[in-house]
Amino acid sequence: MKTLYEISKSGLRACTLRTADVPAYSFKRGLIGEKPNLPEVSEPMLVRHYTALSKRAFGVDDGPYPLGSCTMKYNPKIDEYAANLPGFTNVHPLQRSDKAQGSLAVISTLSAYLLEISGMDAITLQPCAGAHGEYTGLQLIRQYFLMRGDKKRTKIIVPDSAHGTNPASAVMCGFEVVSIPSDAKNGVNMEELKKVLGNDVAGMMLTNPNTLGFFEKNIRQIQKQVHAVGGLMYYDGANLNAIMGQARPGDMGFDVMHFNLHKTFATPHGGGGPGSGPVACKALLQDFLPNPRIVWNDRLGDYRFKYSDKSIGKVTSFYGNFSVMVKALAYIVSLGGAGLKKASEIAVLNANYLKALISENYPTPANRHCMHEFVVSLEKLKEETGVSAMDIAKSLIDNGIHPPTMYFPLIVHEALMFEPTETEEKESLERIAEVMNELYKVAHENPDQVKSAPHSAVISRPDEVTAARKPILRG
Ligand SMILES: Cc1ncc(COP(=O)(O)O)c(C=O)c1O
Repeated sequence: MKTLYEISKSGLRACTLRTADVPAYSFKRGLIGEKPNLPEVSEPMLVRHYTALSKRAFGVDDGPYPLGSCTMKYNPKIDEYAANLPGFTNVHPLQRSDKAQGSLAVISTLSAYLLEISGMDAITLQPCAGAHGEYTGLQLIRQYFLMRGDKKRTKIIVPDSAHGTNPASAVMCGFEVVSIPSDAKNGVNMEELKKVLGNDVAGMMLTNPNTLGFFEKNIRQIQKQVHAVGGLMYYDGANLNAIMGQARPGDMGFDVMHFNLHKTFATPHGGGGPGSGPVACKALLQDFLPNPRIVWNDRLGDYRFKYSDKSIGKVTSFYGNFSVMVKALAYIVSLGGAGLKKASEIAVLNANYLKALISENYPTPANRHCMHEFVVSLEKLKEETGVSAMDIAKSLIDNGIHPPTMYFPLIVHEALMFEPTETEEKESLERIAEVMNELYKVAHENPDQVKSAPHSAVISRPDEVTAARKPILRG
């Protein structure tokens, strides 16, 4: 497909600008050039170009997108509508706070809801992704010990069922990562935990539900043991759509956590789009939160910025990804407390229903009820037929279903990770199961058909490593 520059024809225009009512200003050569190098196309050329491009992609509005760990759920259009209101899209981050009270009210109201949902005491909405939230939360832990003059706490414990960003964030913060294996039921191995606890432990990060989709059953015991040696507990709350309205990390004994607004509330996660990873903490860490915090001034009746000299500093330019916050607030307000509780119930029900429909052909690593997502292993199918997890995933594309996450988590061989999400209908789950079970049959009868999939996509099987490392972005 040609780029806009390749179809450009001198003199064509897609819009007509009104005559300016201010004097013309000529940019100096060298700044952007006398005439910016922009493609010149007509309106139909422009519309057709982008429509053709959009048809080459698969999005949450096209069909089921059960990409485990990413929560690619259908996003209600009312959330997009709210984020597109001119009062929100036209606000400038350098605007004076007295001229941006509405936007500050959005951040403050959302903060209050997130604190209620999490059971925490204080929050920042600055981080722009889940991993960015992890980094910020761990910096709070670091600052806490530094302020106490406790420099020996250099270790962060991370179970092997944690999301991959957890150990990476700990390393970025200068901690040493101590990995502990899972037990037979894919929870934290309590014996292994005991072995690594000591006064050099700064804290433990727990992804809950973990990357296998299981709720950590020993959570109270774990937090008691880590606190007993003086460590702090970090909750990776990116999977909150499994527990919101049911249980709160603050009540479970965690000291700090992050949310993924772009997974739990609105805004789909995958594809590198905008994110928001607020960090909430208990009172003992609140002075270290990034500057500035937004507070309501009762005497003057407005929102103000508050600075703490113990703060870890700013973690992003300005205040974070504002439009993602507006969408999250719209989602929370439109569902209400009871609606959020129902959403997490359906997320868990949907995952268990789909698991039950396919588990005869695609076994799960542990015979347990899952939370909002589950992992199947295709190791046996590969041994029997040569058909891999990748081949089944590619075949789903031919059936109008986005592939689940492949080869993750690493502790399961030939893994496919499904997260149907709460917005998928029962019929849609049954369709995914029907296709998966049919593919299992085809894999045995005609493996080459599955191995050569997809047959309908514009691009079939790119060299994924080269595509990621040396992408060809034009032509
Ligand atoms: C459990 C968990 N933790 C952390 C992250 C990282 O979030 P992000 O990709 O926004 O950095 C994710 C992302 O999917 C996740 O699922």
